[in-house]
Amino acid sequence: MHCQREKFNLDPEITYLNCSYMSPQMKQLEAIGIDVMKRQGKPYTYSINDFFEPVAQLKKAFADLIETETPDRIAIVPSVSYGLANVANNLHLKEGEEILVADEQFPSNIYAWQRVADEAKAKVKIVPPPTAQKDRGKIWNEAILTAITDQTKMVAIGHVHWKDGTLFDLKAIREKTNKHGALLVIDGTQSVGALPFSVKEIYPDALICGGYKWLMGPYSLGVAYYGPYFDNGIPIEENWLNRLNSEDFTGLVDYQPLYRPLANRYSVGEQSNFILTPLLLAAIQQLNTWGVDQIQAYCQQITTAAIAEMRDMDLFIEADNHRSAHLFGVTLNDKINPDLLKNALETAKILVSFRGNAMRIGPNVYNDEADLAKLLDCLKKSIKKG
Ligand SMILES: Cc1ncc(COP(=O)(O)O)c(C=O)c1O
Repeated sequence: MHCQREKFNLDPEITYLNCSYMSPQMKQLEAIGIDVMKRQGKPYTYSINDFFEPVAQLKKAFADLIETETPDRIAIVPSVSYGLANVANNLHLKEGEEILVADEQFPSNIYAWQRVADEAKAKVKIVPPPTAQKDRGKIWNEAILTAITDQTKMVAIGHVHWKDGTLFDLKAIREKTNKHGALLVIDGTQSVGALPFSVKEIYPDALICGGYKWLMGPYSLGVAYYGPYFDNGIPIEENWLNRLNSEDFTGLVDYQPLYRPLANRYSVGEQSNFILTPLLLAAIQQLNTWGVDQIQAYCQQITTAAIAEMRDMDLFIEADNHRSAHLFGVTLNDKINPDLLKNALETAKILVSFRGNAMRIGPNVYNDEADLAKLLDCLKKSIKKG
């Protein structure tokens, strides 16, 4: 793969290394967006098919991306919290049971569990990373595996940590959860689209993805996979589109007790979303064309040299086999003046995120090695004198 910057509208002076915050929109999505907005002025052009077909295509594209042959296992969600609320609604936690999470997870992937745990007198068990940097990712993963016991009802975790890209060994976690009869629910928001994920390999019970980061779609539309555990569950809302035969607009008040198959019951009301659906669909189709493995390999290729130099500066970056290439943290040390660094980044128009004492770098296909070299230059300029 080569740099895809020409497919995006980023201003030439901007170095955008922050896809973990929000993806820039591809030019082709902008064009589609204008068309779909114009169409809103002519509602008579929408047919019944428009309520169903684009959504079906979106489910198929996402099913291909995560390697499942069953698009009916995909639901349309407006946010990660919505997708996780459907999980929380069907957990049936008992007193003393545990929901296992990694330390400092994204809040949407904590609050949902705190409420159901409180209600059931169950517990949210947090597994912290080790304090030492040596073998941090390895030791953290081992601690997570050790913490899974017969008490564990569910492990709710990302494929990577949203703050620094630490990789969680989902395959090993799945094996251990299976042994103890626990669910595995994954927040794929910071990985799916840039880091290969296969349902056929991990068999998650649920995988929830916000659409506006690595899926390169618009804000407020996401996708969620629900496995067999959820097939007969109760959705958090009841909407007519999720019921069987809702395509037959003439029979809508012959109220239908049955849902459409598998995960369809978990889709949000007004899921047909005529504006956002075509945008997320086009974005995921482009990801499928590029190939997620190629995207990950490209991110690795453009970051390798800069990361080696950052390590030479005694900056901590997780070991390569325990972090992703598309999202990684650079922990600042006391040789770096953080104010100088922030000024240098601002002057050079480089965008990254700061999370605690770490800088979060989120490159993607519109970046190249020169972008990372500019970032490195800012770090060098920020070394304290004397
Ligand atoms: C890991 C992770 N999950 C979820 C979200 C977004 O959650 P929600 O859709 O509930 O706003 C983010 C946003 O930064 C995130 O980083």
